[in-house]
Amino acid sequence: MAGAIAYISGESDRLAWKTLLEAGLGTIDFRTLNDGLGNIDEIEVALAWNPKPGLLSMFTNMKMIVSLGMGVDHLLTDDKLPQDVPITRIMDDGLVGQMSEYAIYWALRHHSDIDKYEASQRNKTWKPERFVDTIERRVGVMGFGTIGQDTARKFAALGFPTAGWSRTAKTLSGIETFHGPDGFAQFLARTDILVDVLPLTRDTMGLLDAKAFAGLPRGAYFINMARGGHVVDSDLLAALDSGHLSGAALDVFSTEPLPTDHRFWTHPRVRVTPHIAGATNPRTAAPGVIENIRRLRAGQALINTVDPKTGY
Ligand code: GLV
Repeated sequence: MAGAIAYISGESDRLAWKTLLEAGLGTIDFRTLNDGLGNIDEIEVALAWNPKPGLLSMFTNMKMIVSLGMGVDHLLTDDKLPQDVPITRIMDDGLVGQMSEYAIYWALRHHSDIDKYEASQRNKTWKPERFVDTIERRVGVMGFGTIGQDTARKFAALGFPTAGWSRTAKTLSGIETFHGPDGFAQFLARTDILVDVLPLTRDTMGLLDAKAFAGLPRGAYFINMARGGHVVDSDLLAALDSGHLSGAALDVFSTEPLPTDHRFWTHPRVRVTPHIAGATNPRTAAPGVIENIRRLRAGQALINTVDPKTGY
């Protein structure tokens, strides 16, 4: 009998995951935190999102950890995380599509001055704003993995001059690319709409500070759908207060839920959403998980593995 699969995540998707995994793997021993994990020595695979630190270290016979999000910082910040158990993450086309749509929505709203027209309507004022040609609005996507590349491709298809920035050199047809600390200032200097999809790692923590915001052209707009830990909040607020940045759409925060007294909630140039830019969709995420459980049981190499050293 194959080992048990422990589901350590929100209750709302529990049944969907069980049904989808069973459809792919046949009968499974599916356990959840709420129903009780039973004998934890029998757990072979943990599907986890934001598990309590230390919990996974108790599963002494676990052979694979599956991150139920594309980001894995929620696992790697657990200092008791078993070092010898491979971590895989979901690769979810549904989530990738939602994220690029989120960026495009806010970028187009900004590009088309919708906030200003909303204010004009409130005052019953008929006032066309200055038109900015799409080819003059440069989009820059930080993080150039699956999500970043999909986002960049879609912006480029709309006609925005688009660039990507990543830790290591990457190329993508039709997109200007920059990499590493040396390419960062150049990338920022040519970016009117900055879209963040970087993973949260030691290197990216606090990367968006006063210096980075000052490196963007005056009037730039910022969309964060990655992690709040990239941003020095007080520096972002200062850049918005001074008008150097014209606005920000923020889906992620260094503390979530965003504390009620945080200035982001009420800042006139900030739009807040509650970490919804990319929700894991069990229907589109399950095939990769099923494939990895099959591979694990057949002793084959896993796919979508995470390198704990790079953090993605
Ligand atoms: C969501 O934040 C994810 O990492 O998938």
